[in-house]
Amino acid sequence: MIVIKNKNALAKMRQAGEKLSPIVEIACREIAQPGVSTAAVDAWIEKELRKAGMTSKAKGYKGYKHVSCISVNDVIVHGVPSENVILKPGDLVTIDVCAAWNEYCADMARCFFVGGVYTDQAKRFSDTAQRALDIGIKQMVPGKRLSDISAAIQQEVEQHGFGVIRDFAGHGIGKRMHEEPEVVNYGKPGEGPVLLPGMVFAIEPMISLGDYKVRIAKDGWTAHTADGSLAAHVEDTVVITEQGPQILTRLS
Ligand code: MF3
Ligand code: CO
Repeated sequence: MIVIKNKNALAKMRQAGEKLSPIVEIACREIAQPGVSTAAVDAWIEKELRKAGMTSKAKGYKGYKHVSCISVNDVIVHGVPSENVILKPGDLVTIDVCAAWNEYCADMARCFFVGGVYTDQAKRFSDTAQRALDIGIKQMVPGKRLSDISAAIQQEVEQHGFGVIRDFAGHGIGKRMHEEPEVVNYGKPGEGPVLLPGMVFAIEPMISLGDYKVRIAKDGWTAHTADGSLAAHVEDTVVITEQGPQILTRLS
């Protein structure tokens, strides 16, 4: 069942998004600098969540020990923060954080180049992930169907010659980090449940420069591209309104 959020729940989710987005944006822009470990970035995020009165939804989830996932280069998602992963200029990094405020969650991920250094190809690639997210979100209009989001994302990614990861997906979100429905990033349009005002989804395209096959590391979390090619992931929490999509995790 897809939960329709009432006004009260939506107000709390909006506040959760307003509190979370500056933390993730500053982590990307200012904290994740060359020479810094991903564990240090995670520790900074944990401190900021605490200051904001937010509860991490990742820490303790299936034994996960960190508040963020920090995925570097060929890591698609669920990069485990580590003292041994030191960021260097040109790394393509995604910081993904899900946290709750007043019981309601916001989930978001941002992708960036460490030190602002990138190649043209890597920039085209990461821009495509962002555009796929934006185009997917545009489909979140009452009366459209769930797979319209999925199909729009796949089309945008493949049109630019990149691969859509199949093993992970977006999701409904509310009091729980993962609610129904699963929002996959590929498929035919016009299928699945009709979209209604008050539905809230975390939309999160994950793409690869090469093949879309996945290899999970020995830690049981870190998801690499099987062929070692570059990966990108971005995510926003979005509510469907009568007027169309409203993104809860972007600074206005
Ligand atoms: N934020 C991720 C998502 O979008 C989940 C990461 S939480 C973890 O689903 F515990 F799985 F790392
Ligand atoms: Co998510």
